[in-house]
Amino acid sequence: MNADMLAARLAADRARVDACLEALFETRQAPAPRLEAAMRHGVLVGGKRLRPVLVYAAGRALGAADEALDAPAAALELIHAYSLVHDDLPAMDDDDLRRGQPTVHRVYDEATAILAGDALQALAFEVLAGTGHPRLSAMVATLARAAGRDGMVAGQVLDLAAVGGHPDVAALATMHGHKTGALIRAAVRLGGLVAVTEDDPRLAALEGYAAAIGLAFQVHDDVLDVTGDTATLGKASGADAARDKPTYPTLLGLEGARAKARELVEEGVAALAPLGASAAPLAELARYMIERDH
Ligand code: IPE
Ligand code: IPE
Ligand code: MG
Ligand code: MG
Ligand code: MG
Repeated sequence: MNADMLAARLAADRARVDACLEALFETRQAPAPRLEAAMRHGVLVGGKRLRPVLVYAAGRALGAADEALDAPAAALELIHAYSLVHDDLPAMDDDDLRRGQPTVHRVYDEATAILAGDALQALAFEVLAGTGHPRLSAMVATLARAAGRDGMVAGQVLDLAAVGGHPDVAALATMHGHKTGALIRAAVRLGGLVAVTEDDPRLAALEGYAAAIGLAFQVHDDVLDVTGDTATLGKASGADAARDKPTYPTLLGLEGARAKARELVEEGVAALAPLGASAAPLAELARYMIERDH
């Protein structure tokens, strides 16, 4: 697949999940319009939609229909959006810019941003519950675990605790694997679960892929924080150094971090071997993860 074809596929999947997300906010008599507006700002404005794209690609690789993948794709993005709204709060990374716009707590206020994040998380589970899929309980458990104390939230706590510290590479991998890897693994697994049962060996192949690219994704995010510019990133560059956050570039150097990301992507692509040709789009996405400029 050439770069134009990948770009077209990404755009189509983004449009698809955007339509699902927008539909959640249309024709509604909201009891708290300000909350509603803050949620919209958190989830509808910008974003690469990479986790939904992964849900679609993983599901299709195992034979799922697009219609059945819409709800898990939207649910993943809702959890991710909530994580970003909270990540940007003054108590956490204290960022003013996200997806090229002022952050939710800057447009509204901190309390509204906290509550908008809470409501986005709840909405994710409502969307998933609405599918009535035969493997719904496995899907809910996957998303809940990835979001919570064994996943993203745990990673965020490790991230904040590491400020100013000197973790080794293993500790950094654990932190990244939780704060970012967990939701990426959940995206791939949810797509797979739409198509096959939990004991299907193809899910194990997908898990190997997702674990590697999930970490590669955050390594590249750390690299972009050093090499990217604020306008392209849509968020402040240099923010990690400004906050004394340990990152892959601080531990391995810029070239070392880039090499690590490439190595992880090749590991992820190799894990797809049992899936054959149907996994080619997943391999393309893995490479895109570390070639993207924002
Ligand atoms: C940013 O994720 C936060 C991290 C986990 C590194 P993305 O780079 O996917 O952000 P959006 O969704 O495109 O804004
Ligand atoms: C964010 O990691 C991870 C989550 C939101 C769970 P970062 O703090 O590195 O993300 P950015 O750089 O602000 O997007
Ligand atoms: Mg953070
Ligand atoms: Mg941040
Ligand atoms: Mg970052």
